[in-house]
Parts: sequence; structure tokens; C-alpha cells
Amino acid sequence: GLILAVAGNAVGLGNFLRFPVQAASNGGGAFMIPYFIFFLLVGIPLMWMEWGIGKYGGKFGHGSSPGMFDVLWKNKISKYFGALGLFVSTIIMIYYTYIESWTLGYSFLTITKSYFGLENFELMKSFLYSYQGRETSHFFDGLTTAYIFFLITFVLNFWVLYRGISKGIEKLAKIAMPLLFLFAIIIAIRVITLGTPDPSQPENSIANGFGFIWNPDFSKLDDPKVWLAAAGQIFFTLSLGMGTIHAYASYLKPKDDIALSGLATASTNEFAEVVLGGSIAIPLSVAFFGIATTTAMAKGGSFDLGFASMPLVFEKIPFGEIFGFLWFLLLFFAGITSSVAMGQQVMAFLEDEFGFSRKKSTIVF
Ligand code: ALA
Repeated sequence: GLILAVAGNAVGLGNFLRFPVQAASNGGGAFMIPYFIFFLLVGIPLMWMEWGIGKYGGKFGHGSSPGMFDVLWKNKISKYFGALGLFVSTIIMIYYTYIESWTLGYSFLTITKSYFGLENFELMKSFLYSYQGRETSHFFDGLTTAYIFFLITFVLNFWVLYRGISKGIEKLAKIAMPLLFLFAIIIAIRVITLGTPDPSQPENSIANGFGFIWNPDFSKLDDPKVWLAAAGQIFFTLSLGMGTIHAYASYLKPKDDIALSGLATASTNEFAEVVLGGSIAIPLSVAFFGIATTTAMAKGGSFDLGFASMPLVFEKIPFGEIFGFLWFLLLFFAGITSSVAMGQQVMAFLEDEFGFSRKKSTIVF
């Protein structure tokens, strides 16, 4: 349960929304080389360190990073370094749950075919921006729809946190994680078997989509921006530096193996990101719109690939509303298993360091 929960913490919107955008806007195959270098040299070692710190802190009854840093380094300021973990995850949770609520909203809007009929990227973007409240148009009556889905998302997150580790977080992970993988595999198989959707444009094919991310492009390796983006993606996707791994690792038992648990988490995350995440949004977008447009869409806005180009594709394929529903629901499952992890360490902080009950921690938080 705990390993699934930590995998759920890592596998998130970053794998299915952020990764394709980063890869596409940083040259595809050029991005993957620094990405794997950072995964091996930074990702895995930091993952082990965070598991180690968490397990050690847990022995002293600390489930969040301030207390853990305090027992690691006997100095008055150490707990304030630890507090950065709390700060980072709280800040991320604030915007992350809102984006997560869009995925729930879009799963509903897809199964009800609400945007079916909007036939170009501009209209679909306008639909998205109107949902997000960035643009006033006739699609939505203000932010009411977005807020309803946000409220549902918010209540679900805090309900899971209130239920605690085994009855809330582990239970959620045991349901959401297998479903997430199942949905992703179904969608990836659908994508791979699409071939060349428009025979009059043979260069727009699934194969070329895979070629775009898997053909290494050594010429871009002298661009520091690509390296920075790859390192940033490794941190975000593995949930490093957020204090969330620390919080979950504090529940390990003395005999539990952190080297193995850390590797299991990192590899599950990479399978979800590179194999599944990499087989969906980019190949699909290249097959329907070509490489140049896909790159432009990714550069145009962080969410355009997931929330504007994917819906356009769902309109065009048979049973698209079902595949689209599964896509957005899988994003929601990926999101909620990550956001509760961000919340868990704040809950642990309030419970362990202030002695609050779980109910009081939930209300205060
Ligand atoms: N690691 C989480 C994600 O990828 C935060 O979304």
C-alpha cells in the first residue's frame, strides 16, 4: 500500500501533461538525453536520500521535514531548512489541486460531448480559456462550472487526508493506481494502432510522433535551456525537494529496504512518464497536426497540448468521448494521488509537532 502510495505521489499531472509539453517544446529527441542523464545522476540518488531521511525521521516520530532535519542536524536553524519542504508542497498543492479539478471537469465535459463540434485549435483553446476564466465567451457562464469541479476536488482531497494514511491515502492508491495504468495502457494501444490518420499527409503519422521524441538530436545539447528543462522535469516528476517522499517514508518499518523502495518508485514513475505518457499526447498530436504545429502548441501554453489538442483528437476518432473520458479521468487519478501526498506532510506536521487531532489538522489546513 505504501509503495503504491509513493508511486501515486510521483506519478501525477507532471507525467502526462508536463512531460509531453517539456519534451515537445525542447526539441523532442534532444530533450531525452539530458533527461535520462539527470534521472540517473540526480533523480535516483536524491530519491534514496529522501527515503533515507524520511525513514530516519520517522523513528523519532516526525512525519514531516522540519522535525526530520532537526534530528539530522543538531542546530537551531536546521528545522527552518526542513520547513522549505512544507512550504514547497503547500504552494504546489494550491495550484495543483485547481489544475486537477480541470481534469475532473473535462472528463465530464468529454463524456457529455460538450465541446464536440468545435473543429479547430483556436475554438478549442477559447473553450479552455473560457472554462479557466481567462477569457469571457459564450461557452461558460463565468467560473461557476470550474468552481463546482474545484469544490468536489477540494472536498475529496481533504476527505482522503482526514481518513489518514491506511484508510485514506493507501486505499485511494490501491484503487486509483491500477485504474490509472489500465486507462493509460488502453489509450496508448489505441494511439499506437492509429497509424496515419490522414493518408494524404503521410508525414503526419504515429511513427513520426515516436520518431520525434526517440531520435536523439545531439545538435541541441549545447543549449543550456534544454538541460535546465530536463533537470526541472526530473525534480517535478519524481516529487523531489517537496518533502512528500520524506513524509511517506517516515511510515517505513525498520526492516524495510529503502534502496529497493526508492528504485521501485522511480522506475514506476518513469514507466508511467516515458512509456505511457510519451506514447499518448505527443505521437497523437504529431499524427493529427504534424511536428511543427505540435511544437508550436506546446510552446503556446502549458495546458494547450493536454486540454486543447487532445480534445480535438477525441472528436475525430471513433468512441472518442470514451477515450477522452478515460484520458481525463486518468489525469484526475494521477493528480489526486499526488496532491494528497503534498497535503499529508502538512497534516503530519500539525499532528506531530503541535499535537493536533486529525480532525483539527484537517480544519486548520
Ligand atoms: N510528481 C508529481 C507529478 O508529476 C508532482 O505531477
